[in-house]
Amino acid sequence: MKAIVVTDEAAGTAGMTLEERPRPEAAGNDVLVEVHASGFTRDELTWPSTWTDRLGRDRAPSVPGHELAGVVAALGYGTRGLSVGQRVFGLTDWTRDGTLAEYAAVEARNLAPLPGDVDFTVGASLPISGLTAWQGLFDHGRLQAGQSVLVHGAAGAVGSMAAQLAREAGARVIGTGRAADRRAALDFGAQEFVDLDGEALEEVGEVDLVFDVIGGEIGKRSARLVRAGGTLVSVAGPPEARPAEGLAIDFVVESDRAQLGELVKRVREGRLRTAVGNVAALDDAVAAFNPTERAKGKTIILVRP
Ligand SMILES: NC(=O)c1ccc[n+]([C@@H]2O[C@H](COP(=O)([O-])OP(=O)(O)OC[C@H]3O[C@@H](n4cnc5c(N)ncnc54)[C@H](OP(=O)(O)O)[C@@H]3O)[C@@H](O)[C@H]2O)c1
Repeated sequence: MKAIVVTDEAAGTAGMTLEERPRPEAAGNDVLVEVHASGFTRDELTWPSTWTDRLGRDRAPSVPGHELAGVVAALGYGTRGLSVGQRVFGLTDWTRDGTLAEYAAVEARNLAPLPGDVDFTVGASLPISGLTAWQGLFDHGRLQAGQSVLVHGAAGAVGSMAAQLAREAGARVIGTGRAADRRAALDFGAQEFVDLDGEALEEVGEVDLVFDVIGGEIGKRSARLVRAGGTLVSVAGPPEARPAEGLAIDFVVESDRAQLGELVKRVREGRLRTAVGNVAALDDAVAAFNPTERAKGKTIILVRP
């Protein structure tokens, strides 16, 4: 099968190559998925899990990409809940070969059914950003209707999901980002917007929840805005400062079939949209991940156009 392969962290996305690789096999509890569309996260070449397996052993050359939408091609021994020919989408293991390939072996529990009226492109753009937003807002942030949430990077992949989900849950949403992202953040459901380069974050006042995708100095300043009993949730690594009288939580997204179902239901009903940017074929994936100009939205690789 054709796959994108990386061998060297220092080379980054420029070191990606399109190669011929053996088709993976479905181990126990696995599903072999015929990949139709695949998503890749820019930072993943810096994650240790891209280069080692669960025991910490070197596993390069590895196939990156951990989001997919496709069709079940085979089931491993003991696999339950899915069947051959079914449309699926989901988030794959960090420590195994990923989804920038014609086939991927995935634990069945990491996948959910993809309804027939949802494009593979949309399905592949949903898992990481959607699940991260859901888990950050509701599992870790315990967001309730009537509360206020400051969503950093509200025009980005994760932030745009968080802004939409928080707004739908009845929260007051303040988005942040670059000046040029104001319109997009408001369109995604933010009621107010702070341009982090030109406006004072501190003027936001106190909030119940901060959802931080940026970290660093922005994260530190945001911790001071969390009201007593509130929470700072970070997906940009451990927070460098904690709220004086609140919680600070950082987490790594995990797949969850029920939450994937909630997300795709909202997409079908027109209540949630993903920020898909460039869509490219697998043969053009290396160029797509090395753009000459800043790309807006998530790049999706359509493996079977
Ligand atoms: N822990 C987890 O499980 C998890 C899961 C998913 C993502 N993440 C991490 O979350 C981060 C965001 O991911 P994403 O996919 O949402 O990225 P993204 O689509 O690039 O969105 C980030 C947004 O924040 C903006 N931004 C970043 N730094 C900024 C700054 N200093 N001032 C103003 N705006 C700024 C970006 O604008 P520019 O593009 O102009 O910089 C962009 O609009 C990444 O670091 C990713 O690795 C973690």
